[in-house]
Amino acid sequence: MKIDGSTVLVTGANRGIGRALVSAFLARGARRVHAAARNPAALEPVVAEAPDRVLPLALDLTVPATIDAAAQAASDVTLLVNNAGTHAVGHLLDMDLGAVEDVMRTNCLGTLRVLRAFVPVLERNGGGAVANVISIGAFGGTPSLGGYPASKAALHLMTQAVRADLAPRGIAVHAVFPGPVDTDMLDYVARNEPAFGDFPRAPVAEVAAAVLDGLEAGEEDIFPDAFAAEVGRVWRADPKAVERRLSGIT
Ligand SMILES: NC(=O)c1ccc[n+]([C@@H]2O[C@H](COP(=O)([O-])OP(=O)(O)OC[C@H]3O[C@@H](n4cnc5c(N)ncnc54)[C@H](OP(=O)(O)O)[C@@H]3O)[C@@H](O)[C@H]2O)c1
Repeated sequence: MKIDGSTVLVTGANRGIGRALVSAFLARGARRVHAAARNPAALEPVVAEAPDRVLPLALDLTVPATIDAAAQAASDVTLLVNNAGTHAVGHLLDMDLGAVEDVMRTNCLGTLRVLRAFVPVLERNGGGAVANVISIGAFGGTPSLGGYPASKAALHLMTQAVRADLAPRGIAVHAVFPGPVDTDMLDYVARNEPAFGDFPRAPVAEVAAAVLDGLEAGEEDIFPDAFAAEVGRVWRADPKAVERRLSGIT
């Protein structure tokens, strides 16, 4: 995937990894970046980075009408980055079931809706690429992370399924598996589950740059930080070892 001259859409672009991805795409010559967020007012500083190339867009993964409207508005997209995601800590058997449903609805079904809305756009524009930001959490059921690992595992397998469907249609599908990254999401987890406070935190700008390197190199599975790369290496050789490691964080 050539980023120079591409037209990108990033969901969850107002903060964290999404915001860093917008900056990285601009630095590598993207012609236009549609920066999507559920509250477009939060995108003001993102747009200010390059007002002639960043277009703010309203998109809430749980509100289908906003996804359909975004696909109408951003009809020139050639690279879709499904970055937005949510989290709620707790143990599956006793936490609020509504919080589990929210994570599943947002991370899997919301992302699927975005894919369904934007595949025709990518096809009309001659093909292109999709990158789904998943997590190394997809490789093991960490008990204290509620529905998050299951939502990311589901997104992982959805990513594989649509990859096979979209390859003959000229659309490459990339899976991104970050490890612990220095964002609000990790702050929230570490506040609620002290074990996560000890993890090394990859800086967002480095993670974003590594994602773009992986896209440009045509990597199907992108492990954008050192922690993730190590987990990915072990996962390829011994998936049970990763399950034991991730499920051991209680
Ligand atoms: N940080 C990590 O350690 C880590 C590790 C592995 C994977 N990831 C994944 O990386 C992605 C970005 O995470 P992050 O660390 O940058 O988290 P973050 O700082 O918490 O940002 C999450 C982003 O997703 C957006 N979002 C949440 N629910 C949404 C919804 N219903 N509709 C639209 N947007 C929504 C948020 O918007 P609001 O500002 O409106 O809430 C925000 O822009 C997520 O998919 C996450 O699972 C993160």
